[in-house]
Amino acid sequence: MQLIDTVGRFTKTIESARAMGNSVGLVPTMGALHRGHLSLVERAARECDVVAVTIFVNPLQFGDPDDLAAYPRTLGADVAVAEAAGADVVFTPSDRQMYPDSAAAGGPQDMSGEPVGVHAGSLGRVLEGASRPGHFDGVATVIAKLFAMTGRCRAYFGEKDFQQLQVIRSLASRLSFPVDVVACATVREPDGLALSSRNARLSPDERTAATVLYRSLAAGAAAIAAGARRPAEVTSAMRAELGAEPLVTTDYAVAVGAEHLTPLPELAGAVRLLVAARCGPVRLIDNMEVII
Ligand code: PAJ
Repeated sequence: MQLIDTVGRFTKTIESARAMGNSVGLVPTMGALHRGHLSLVERAARECDVVAVTIFVNPLQFGDPDDLAAYPRTLGADVAVAEAAGADVVFTPSDRQMYPDSAAAGGPQDMSGEPVGVHAGSLGRVLEGASRPGHFDGVATVIAKLFAMTGRCRAYFGEKDFQQLQVIRSLASRLSFPVDVVACATVREPDGLALSSRNARLSPDERTAATVLYRSLAAGAAAIAAGARRPAEVTSAMRAELGAEPLVTTDYAVAVGAEHLTPLPELAGAVRLLVAARCGPVRLIDNMEVII
């Protein structure tokens, strides 16, 4: 396993792996790796000859500097578990390596200090994007850079962050990156809670309450299975479940078309149920696919 911290060496290593006829799998992460991340690495290792895991806490996608400062950093453990899961290369660039032309690593800028980056488009402004302005532009910019550095590859992302996955799929296709975006199923605890590095910040009572997100998605899916086709019927079933849990405050609960995450007059085809809620100090998100 090679641990690399400069863009130059990363690009060279991947280029020479490809020149030797190897297929490349890319798994972008922000570290604090858990079984959800590792499921992506394991799948990449099954499907690709050389697997590169990137660990970079991207300042551009954090609105709140305190949130950025509080983000868990566990590099030593991350490198060990990434290697055990099948990583051949772990790329851990510094802020300066990723954004050399920026004041205080605030992202790429032109000569007059204006930000230069990738816009996530309208998909980046709804739901999570509405709560976190600029977040998906930051994600799109760092992923565009990682795609450009890696070149032709399969890139693995979790359905856990479904809106992010759709933003990245759209980015890869609109900007013609030679990248196959691979969606990987959400890894959950036995009680349904989706794995997230944020779960560690929940108190025992909040941890129990947090399972309501999954129950709310299940209630929405059950309403659809029982014949509900109006989004409002489905979301009221989801909200009723969330509302019954006093430790949780709902941010949104929606049933939308899966591709563009836009409201539908009537549910049909590929539908995505998405919820976001605050539980104690933590904002949690989850989603579920329903095919009608
Ligand atoms: P991070 O939160 O570290 O997540 C890295 C990848 O792991 C993402 O594709 C995410 O969807 C996936 N993941 C997280 N929890 C998961 C779970 N329970 N099951 C399956 N996959 C899961 O998402 C980011 O980093 C960043 O925004 C990034 C894409 C790296 C850009 O900076």
